[in-house]
Amino acid sequence: MIDLRSDTKTQPSPGMREAIANALVGDEQRREDPTVNELERRVADLLGQEESVFVPTATMANEIALRTLSEPGDELIAEENAHILLSELGGPAVHAGVMTRPIRGRAGRFGPDEVQRMVRRTDATHVPPTRVVAIENTHNASGGRVWPLEEIRALVGASRELELSVHLDGARVLNAAVASGVPAAEIAGQFDTVTLCLSKGLGCPLGALVAGSGELMRKARRLKHQFGGAMRQAGIVAAAGIYALDHNLERLADDHARARRLAEGLHAAGVPVDLEQVETNFVQVDVGALGLDGADALARLAEEGIGLSGTAHPGLLRAVTHLDIGDEDIDRALELIPKALGVLARA
Ligand SMILES: Cc1ncc(COP(=O)(O)O)c(C=O)c1O
Repeated sequence: MIDLRSDTKTQPSPGMREAIANALVGDEQRREDPTVNELERRVADLLGQEESVFVPTATMANEIALRTLSEPGDELIAEENAHILLSELGGPAVHAGVMTRPIRGRAGRFGPDEVQRMVRRTDATHVPPTRVVAIENTHNASGGRVWPLEEIRALVGASRELELSVHLDGARVLNAAVASGVPAAEIAGQFDTVTLCLSKGLGCPLGALVAGSGELMRKARRLKHQFGGAMRQAGIVAAAGIYALDHNLERLADDHARARRLAEGLHAAGVPVDLEQVETNFVQVDVGALGLDGADALARLAEEGIGLSGTAHPGLLRAVTHLDIGDEDIDRALELIPKALGVLARA
C-alpha cells in the first residue's frame, strides 16, 4: 500500500536502527541516561527554551504542559479543531481540570481580538478565570497550515498583556519552521510551553518532548512521573530522536515538495484539492464535492492500494507525505487516486 494516511506511519530507517542499537543508556528516571539528557538539551536549544523533558507521546506532552500552566477550574482557550480539544479524549478536563473554550478559527488560526473579546476575569466568587491560550502549528485539522510569525507574535503579545500563559502544540512545528524558513527557536521560543513530536515527520518510532523554562520544566518532570511517563533505559528511543534531528529535519522540505506535486497533479486531473491550503506535508481531498461519502471513498482508495485518512471535516480526506514516501509513490498515487475516485471516468 502507498500509505499516505499519516506521517506517523514511518518505519525506523536502517541508520536510525543502528543509532538505536548503539545508544548509551542509563536510568532515565534518575536522569542518568546520557542519550535522553543529550536529546533534552538539543531540543531545548532547537526550540529556544531553557529545558525540555522527554515523554512517550505528544499527547502526554500537551497534557503535562496544560497542567503546569493552570489550576483546576481555570479556562483554556484553543481553536475548535485543535488536537488538544478534539483528539485527546477530554484530557485537559481529566488531567488539568480546565474548562475549555473553543474559538472558531480561520485555517486553524485566531487573532488577538478574539482573545481580548473572550478573556474572562475572575470575580473570585463565580467566574472561571481564563488562564491559558493554546495554539497548534502546523495545524493538523486545517491541513497542516502554518501560522505566520507575525500573527504568532501579535497573539502571544496580546495574551501576555492579559496575563495569560501560552502553549504551543508544536507536534509539527519543525514542518512550520522548514516551510516558512523561520528558525524553530524564533517560533517556539515565544511560548511558555511547547510540545514537539518525534514520531511524525521526524520518523522516530515514538517519543515527544515538552519544553519551557527551568522552573516550569521542574514541575513538568514531577508530573511526568505522576503520569507514569518516567522511564528507565529510554535512551534506546531517545537515540532515534537525536538521529532524526541530525538526518531528518531539513529533509522535511522534500515531504512538502512531494505534497505540493501531489496536490497539483490531483488538481490537474480534476480531483477537488484546494491548492492554497497546501503549505506543508498535507493534501486535503474534497471527496464530498465528488458526491462521495468519506468512508466509501477511503474503501475505494484502499482497494487500489492507496491509504488516505479522514479528517475532522466530513467529506474531506487527507493524504500526508513522509519519510517513507518517494517520488515514485507520488507518481503512482497520481494515477491511482483519480482512478479510485472515478474522476478519470467522468472526464
Ligand atoms: C497537532 C498534534 N498534536 C498532538 C498529537 C498527539 O501525538 P501522539 O499521537 O504522539 O500522542 C498529534 C497527533 O496526531 C497532533 O497531530
